[in-house]
Amino acid sequence: MNSVVIEQPGKLVIQKRELPLPAVGEVRVRVKYAGICGSDVHIYHGHNPFAKYPRVIGHEFFGEIDAVGAGVDAGRIGERVAVDPVVSCGHCYPCSVGRPNVCTELSVIGVHRDGGFSDYACAPAKNAYVIPEAIPDPLASMVEPFTIAANITAFLQPTPRDVALVYGAGPMGLTAVQVLKGVYGVSQVIVADRIAERLEMALESGADRVIDNTSLSLQDELEKLGIRPTLIVDAACHPAILQEAVKLASPAARIGLLGFSGDASSVTQQSITSKEISIFTSRLNSHRFPQVIEWMVQGKIDVSKLITHYMDAADVEAALTLFEKDQRHCCKVILKF
Ligand code: NAI
Ligand code: MN
Ligand code: ZN
Repeated sequence: MNSVVIEQPGKLVIQKRELPLPAVGEVRVRVKYAGICGSDVHIYHGHNPFAKYPRVIGHEFFGEIDAVGAGVDAGRIGERVAVDPVVSCGHCYPCSVGRPNVCTELSVIGVHRDGGFSDYACAPAKNAYVIPEAIPDPLASMVEPFTIAANITAFLQPTPRDVALVYGAGPMGLTAVQVLKGVYGVSQVIVADRIAERLEMALESGADRVIDNTSLSLQDELEKLGIRPTLIVDAACHPAILQEAVKLASPAARIGLLGFSGDASSVTQQSITSKEISIFTSRLNSHRFPQVIEWMVQGKIDVSKLITHYMDAADVEAALTLFEKDQRHCCKVILKF
């Protein structure tokens, strides 16, 4: 089989490898489609603190089960599945409270262990979620990125009464917009970004209003509109955003953070406590695959709106470059295996 391997930071090869054998409790998936994510690019460039090399990247993938390991029902062979990349121990404190995504022994497929940019990939059987017929193959690798929005909104508990501000109209911001509008019916969702084409995509994903904050001050623009967001999602993830978000937020607002920057954010106790602001963080997802699959089937989210390119897996290097360099025209790039 062919696998996309990052041998060391900066060095990508398509390698011939032996077919992997599913271990006890695992399934093997014949991969059909896999989405490119910013973290794949980060591992490629050596900017992901969790990655070990060599590594088969890819954590957003879909395919068909073609073999099972010991202890797994052979009846699962042939199932169309999307794979949850979160592999957890099942017994540590976070696992015991339903938060396997921050398991003390967390292993993320495509980061800590070999992933889905490969003709075949193995994963724990319980991580392989059946995709209903209503979801066509080329859309099924989009479940994972939407679980990020599912996870953070589960903390934020949006309601129709909220006025939401989403920082960033990249893939993550757009998933948040779709979930806020389509699932929770938030009355007003405002999106800020610096790229006009991305803001256009935010409107297509259901945003009510967009603000280009390249040269405009977000604070001035919101003041002019008389808007104080009651819910803020930071899907741009620059550490300076938190301070601004706290300032813009309504009293009793909730702020959700997704970023992994190692640089400090600066907020005072006064600025958050005086408004009793709640700040939530969210990493990957905790068992959110079934939820997102249901939203797709019910038409509450339209994942196809985020897909700008399909490319052959053989062109992975070009695909990664396009994804990284052309933010105006690229959102999700899906590789075909
Ligand atoms: P992206 O880089 O494609 O999108 C970020 C967008 O934010 C860009 O369009 C950029 O123009 C915009 N932006 C940057 N600074 C801004 C500012 N001050 N105001 C308004 N817009 C601004 O990235 P993507 O894939 O959408 O991911 C977003 C972030 O989410 C990344 O930092 C990534 O590390 C993080 N992430 C976190 C996950 C989690 O589980 N916590 C999972 C996936 C991504
Ligand atoms: Mn991803
Ligand atoms: Zn655990």
